[in-house]
Amino acid sequence: MELGTCYYPEHWPATWWNDDARRMRDMGIRWVRIGEFAWSRIEPEPGQFDWTWLDQAIAVLHAHGLKVVMCTPTATPPKWLLDRMPDMVALDPSGQPRGFGSRRHYCFSHPGYRAESRRITQQVADRYGQHPAVAAWQTDNEYGCHDTVLSTSPAAQHGFRRWLAQRYGTIDALNAAWGTVFWSQTYRSFDEIDLPVQTVTEAHPSHRLDWRRFASSEVRAFNQEQTVILRAASPGRPITHNFMGFFTEFDHHDVAADLDIATWDSYPLGFTQNFFLTPEEKVRYARTGHPDIPAFHHDLYRGMCHGRWWVMEQQPGPVNWASWNPAPQDGMVRLWTWQAFAHGAEVVSYFRWRQAPFAQEQMHTGLHRPDRSLDQGGLEATQVGVELAQLAASGRDLQTGQVHNRVALVFDYDSLWMAQIQPQGADYNPLELHFRIYSALRQLGLDVDIVGPQHPLNTYRLVVLPAQLHVSARLAHAQEQAAQSGTHIVLGPRCGAKSATLTFPVDAAGNTQLPPGPLTRLAGVRVERVASLPPGLSTPVKLANGPAAQMQRWREDWALDGAQVIATFADDGRPAITQHGTVHGVAGWLADADWCFWLNTCAQAAGLLTTPLPEDVRISRWGDWTLACNFSDHARQWQPASPSAASAVLGSALLPPHGISLWHHRQ
Ligand code: GAL
Repeated sequence: MELGTCYYPEHWPATWWNDDARRMRDMGIRWVRIGEFAWSRIEPEPGQFDWTWLDQAIAVLHAHGLKVVMCTPTATPPKWLLDRMPDMVALDPSGQPRGFGSRRHYCFSHPGYRAESRRITQQVADRYGQHPAVAAWQTDNEYGCHDTVLSTSPAAQHGFRRWLAQRYGTIDALNAAWGTVFWSQTYRSFDEIDLPVQTVTEAHPSHRLDWRRFASSEVRAFNQEQTVILRAASPGRPITHNFMGFFTEFDHHDVAADLDIATWDSYPLGFTQNFFLTPEEKVRYARTGHPDIPAFHHDLYRGMCHGRWWVMEQQPGPVNWASWNPAPQDGMVRLWTWQAFAHGAEVVSYFRWRQAPFAQEQMHTGLHRPDRSLDQGGLEATQVGVELAQLAASGRDLQTGQVHNRVALVFDYDSLWMAQIQPQGADYNPLELHFRIYSALRQLGLDVDIVGPQHPLNTYRLVVLPAQLHVSARLAHAQEQAAQSGTHIVLGPRCGAKSATLTFPVDAAGNTQLPPGPLTRLAGVRVERVASLPPGLSTPVKLANGPAAQMQRWREDWALDGAQVIATFADDGRPAITQHGTVHGVAGWLADADWCFWLNTCAQAAGLLTTPLPEDVRISRWGDWTLACNFSDHARQWQPASPSAASAVLGSALLPPHGISLWHHRQ
């Protein structure tokens, strides 16, 4: 468990670097990420490189024993490159080119820019690949940030046609798979297929899905070209990319397959303001962030690179980019840092070392203020540095990476895209559904792995599929095997509702099926009709021995095919919740508290011990350790079930507001 920071030597006088590095070291920082936006300083004129400043900056960091995460600078191609190659920019869905003057102004599909990306990557890799200070690499910066995955450029159009030809082989196969007979959309050749934009009304869903898959594969290919170069020039150094929060524009499992470590950028307050939380939640968690936002992503990204993951950018104070930018409550930066470690982070790195006095992010805080004084985030990072050192000195093994959970939540980008393309109700947001279900599990005190659809399932006691619209034969088989070995499976609404091309599911003989398609036998139900529910039109559900529950946003009419009814809709008596062996099904979107109640019964059926927690307290367990985090503005009481078998190493059973306690369990 180590601390890091994002540093921009090019923003500061060289005379400050030594003092900065010394202070990093004193603060307990071990990793420094540099260079991701420095292309115009590295190559000020085409083909003319200025390495002197960067050589010197790295030498200074090295002299202080700091490890460098070196980045490829491809997120910010310089002005001279755009002037030479004006068509390298992405075009937005209306065909307008992206302008110069911020960042990420490139099209993933442009062959000329791809060559430039390889060229500059090679240059940086040749220069620093063997440097003793360079201990890891980051490719580019936040692929897709600012809506930059999809491009309607001619290069993207051309690439998409090629990709379709490869996927379908013949145009007849594509016509059949998409169902282009509808509205006379039949194509005679791949060259006739445009990008699905500017259509009069909704473009064909299968077309849109394949466009998103293509765009995702372009991100992967772009990244892979860099990783190939970096591995050859800098063997033995892990490669990462910094992913984002609540971001599903490309398949992160695919991109991560070419990386050694997944990292992500954690801005809990910004995400709380900018995403789907209710107005009440946005106020309530304005200064702490929603308790489950960081952990949701920690658990998601831990599932990408065989468990190796970091926070590459940790929010240190107010940011500049959210609708509103409140300041974290004192203590939250420390709490977020410890929580990340408790979920298995190897490194937590703060963005940024010092607030910039100029340009777009001058309102974004750092660990230091622009006048070099220490800010609140810096104070708290220092505290964590001291705590880590004390724990190390006490000889306690913090068991980095020892996260072994018994609950899995399946997260599949392909299914998310299907539901985003075909939401059917304005507030049917599949990402939110995953988050709400995850949050319910966390409120029950459960530790969760978020896994891709290829991940083995039978090592878990409980597997939840919140919105697995497409269930491949392989996934259906994995679920059957898991169920046979006693794993309990929870199926959310819309599971198994679509084929791989976003049509109704088809069986092996090519016959159309009703949802849940390949899961029919397992779930013991058939879905006869689905309906979305506008706000205010929720339906009461009668749970045996439970509170009066509500189904909101979405409901389905199910016919039974072997399953047992656990709860019914109050209005028409149809099944709302079913059980078939170890498979639990829900015919809609439950209200938040009802997810908690019902998932608790599923978890108990699976033999899991749930621990209802005080409001806004969360616990995270790894190895012999438990961390308790208090996200509320009030003191809370929490201690492990058998306190005599555990000792509080940090804090105590009385959790102060925004405080933590760390418990070590004796064996
Ligand atoms: C991230 C990005 C950083 C910086 C930061 C501000 O999205 O990677 O470069 O812009 O946000 O919060």
